[in-house]
Amino acid sequence: MRKTSTLVLTVLVAVFALTIVLMSFQLKTNKAAEDEGIADVTESGSESAASGEIQHNPPSMDDVPDDELGDAIKRGYDLVNDTSTVLRSEAPTAEDGEKLVNELSCTSCHAGAGLDSEVSSLVGMSAVYPMYIGRSGKVVSLEDRINGCMVRSMNGTKFESNDPDLKAMVAYMTYISEGIPVGAELPWRHQNSVDDMPIPSVADGEKVYQQSCATCHAGDGSGTGSNTGPALWGDGSFNDGAGIARLTKMAGYVHNNMPVGNPGSLSDQEVSDVSAFILSQDRPEFANHEGDWPNGGRPSDSMTKERRDEIKAGTIDWEAVIGKKE
Ligand code: HEC
Ligand code: HEC
Repeated sequence: MRKTSTLVLTVLVAVFALTIVLMSFQLKTNKAAEDEGIADVTESGSESAASGEIQHNPPSMDDVPDDELGDAIKRGYDLVNDTSTVLRSEAPTAEDGEKLVNELSCTSCHAGAGLDSEVSSLVGMSAVYPMYIGRSGKVVSLEDRINGCMVRSMNGTKFESNDPDLKAMVAYMTYISEGIPVGAELPWRHQNSVDDMPIPSVADGEKVYQQSCATCHAGDGSGTGSNTGPALWGDGSFNDGAGIARLTKMAGYVHNNMPVGNPGSLSDQEVSDVSAFILSQDRPEFANHEGDWPNGGRPSDSMTKERRDEIKAGTIDWEAVIGKKE
């Protein structure tokens, strides 16, 4: 009798403890997702996928209707897939074009015009926005979120809210989100981040880079083309306010997706080293770092000018950057 009740008690305590652990994990994931994207590299996505709820199955571009809406969808596709070429070629002067947008396309990070389920897919976006974003400290619309990538990842200029090109991108994302219910949990979201990464060596990272990345991204990081090997640093690349300018996000992206043709071939140490090397290099500075994270939660791994200078001076505290001290 005593033994049985002890057993029952032990089981109850265990279940309770497990519930707490699971709940805190869930909270952590939600909190992270809020700051535009952290989730365990392997787990959460495949779990949801296994339960088979939401499928990544966008309609074909061949089926776009032959009308005004269809024209907007096609224009949106071109803008997403070939952003720099399209916007720069239509700008009044070359100088205007450079202010509008850097040398990247949305495809540079959202592969295949956002249709590749593995590489930051844009499928389902019109079903999940508007949503709260920690970095902005408010609920943002899909238009705002696109503009967020325009001024950071594309180191360019915001679209006005009534700009037909902004509407075209939204029309495209709405088209590829067909059939996905509003507010759906998308298993392919927030896959590109790592929670726990080894302390990097920038010098080793340079070797990894020259060996495994330079053929497509060029020895000096300036790239070979927005959709063949986009610029990783320098004037043509994203600025240091971009999500991927955070070390854990860069590492997650590289871990999951690079090198193209052989993803997953680098060790965790190599991923850490090469990510730190890329983010140690000079890139455009984001003008309004102070305005970010107005409600707190500012991450420690944004590789800003200050961090780059610390790397050069040899004073950087990587443990503080990747948050191992807490
Ligand atoms: C240099 C890389 C890069 C480029 C270029 C880029 N983005 Fe992004 N984008 C990101 C990252 C990183 C995130 C955050 C992903 C996450 O939360 O996992 C993101 C998030 C987004 C989101 C929200 C995704 C979500 O799941 O909430 C949208 C929408 C988006 N980008 C649209 C665009 C558009 C449109 C363009 C081109 C005008 C673009 N992006 C260019 C890196 C980039
Ligand atoms: C075979 C060519 C190829 C190789 C090799 C390659 N990449 Fe890429 N990389 C691409 C392409 C193409 C894209 C655009 C997205 C896509 O299509 O997946 C890209 C996108 C990226 C991006 C996001 C875009 C940007 O401008 O920041 C990063 C970061 C990146 N690669 C890092 C690396 C690293 C690190 C390596 C070496 C470990 C590497 N790549 C090796 C072709 C390559």
